Amino acid sequence: MSRAYYVTTPIYYISGNPHIGHAYTTVVADVLARTARTMGPAFFLTGTDEHGQKVANAAAAAGKTPQAWCDELVPRWQSLFAAYHVAYDDFIRTTQPRHERVVQRVFERLRENGDVYLGTYQGWYCVFDETFWLESKLVEGKCPTCGREVQWLSENDWFFRLSKYAPRLLEHFRSNPEWVRPKSAYNEMLALLEEGLDDLSISRTSLEWGIPVPGGGGVIYVWFDALLNYISAIGWPDDPRFRTYWPASVQLIGKEIARFHTIVWPAVLWAIGEEAPHLVFAHGWITTETGQKMGKSLGNAADPFALADRFGADSIRYFLLREAPFGSDFSYSEEKIAQRHNSDLGNDLGNLVHRTLSMIERYRNGIVPLPGDGPALLRRFGDLPQRVRDASLDLRFRDGLEAVWEMVTTLNRSIEERKPWALYKEGRERELDALLYELCEGLRLLAILLHPVMPERMEELWRRLGIRERRVDDDWTLSLAESIAGGTQTSLGSPLFPRMDLTPES
Ligand code: MSP
Repeated sequence: MSRAYYVTTPIYYISGNPHIGHAYTTVVADVLARTARTMGPAFFLTGTDEHGQKVANAAAAAGKTPQAWCDELVPRWQSLFAAYHVAYDDFIRTTQPRHERVVQRVFERLRENGDVYLGTYQGWYCVFDETFWLESKLVEGKCPTCGREVQWLSENDWFFRLSKYAPRLLEHFRSNPEWVRPKSAYNEMLALLEEGLDDLSISRTSLEWGIPVPGGGGVIYVWFDALLNYISAIGWPDDPRFRTYWPASVQLIGKEIARFHTIVWPAVLWAIGEEAPHLVFAHGWITTETGQKMGKSLGNAADPFALADRFGADSIRYFLLREAPFGSDFSYSEEKIAQRHNSDLGNDLGNLVHRTLSMIERYRNGIVPLPGDGPALLRRFGDLPQRVRDASLDLRFRDGLEAVWEMVTTLNRSIEERKPWALYKEGRERELDALLYELCEGLRLLAILLHPVMPERMEELWRRLGIRERRVDDDWTLSLAESIAGGTQTSLGSPLFPRMDLTPES
């Protein structure tokens, strides 16, 4: 990775409480940012999408002004991300002046260069998805994305000349087949492009809650406003941070918003003379066991705070990345989480940690022995850090975790096969030292490699290993060139991943 790394999540509508789906995208972005930071500068942006009809309706239903409603709810999102150990670099709110200024400036710029013109919009609008629909796209008169009722709009609106960018978009898609992933999203978006594009209405006169169109004439359409967060937060156009981080390395989104991010967004960027992001990754949905998308409006959404309390946030982070290849839908249930927690984290990893540290305590007074010259278990894992890093940055998190688990399994097996308790009894001190040393060094590597996924638990492991010279998330090149020092004082502590009971009452 030679350049500065920039990762974004969608900004979340403040129309109710956050659910596990919102935590999902943000956790994945956090894993990417943490991985990238061990190699160089990285910036991770998330935030909230506060304008539009949907938020205005939610505020009205609660009897509040939209601004008061947003101010009240934003801390819930922020505390959700804190509860999930997410370390973003910036949290943007679309009601912040720094954002509103940029949106108005982009709008004016496009109007000056003729990419925005005044026209009449007559057609349908889905408030839930904040999307305009042509009559021909409706399915049985309803929104083709969410199936909800649509409303008829007839307004004088400003339009963005999206159709003008169709040839460039086609060319961009054809010459960069990897710029939208997974392939299913790429193919779907290419098919849409091949059907042809209409211009996009980017203002609303029937709504007050939004950024005013410069010079009057309603408010700016919420999606046009929202997309610009990715560049307003880093100071488009003049801030050096913008020049450092744009174009974004990865923009993570849920698959339902791929059209805005892979068709509208690059066209807007080109219209202001900027480049499209390197990669838009449209991930799948967390579904219920019957395959329904989880969402608050369906009343089936899992409360992410309760989940983190019950299992530990790192355990949920692990589940989200390990359960399915990133990109696919996957179903969620507490039983599935408990199973992963107990088997992968409790039995495999947790036992390895606990057994190693207890043997060090019992046989060596908690002190890491000097490295021996016995059979080098870890030698065959020399390329593991590279494999894990490559897999993560390529968004193949599950592959990376599976590779790490090969090492966990090998280390556990070595304990069973070489029976340190027998070595101790038989007084085979050098062999015992060599094995214990390797196990400690293995734990050090595991803490480093798993830190992006389970930062809190791996920091705890690092503390127990007693390493003070370096942080667990330091520059990987430095950390990987070292090994744990003989003489380090470890501490045992309680199990890192206590077993979860599967009975529903627990
Ligand atoms: N505000 C827009 C995005 C504007 S970005 C310029 C929006 N917000 S949202 O709150 O409805 O959803 C945002 C994102 O939450 C989705 O794209 C997705 O990343 C995530 N998820 C919401 N529900 C989800 C699941 N059930 N499963 C996985 N991710 C989910 O759309």
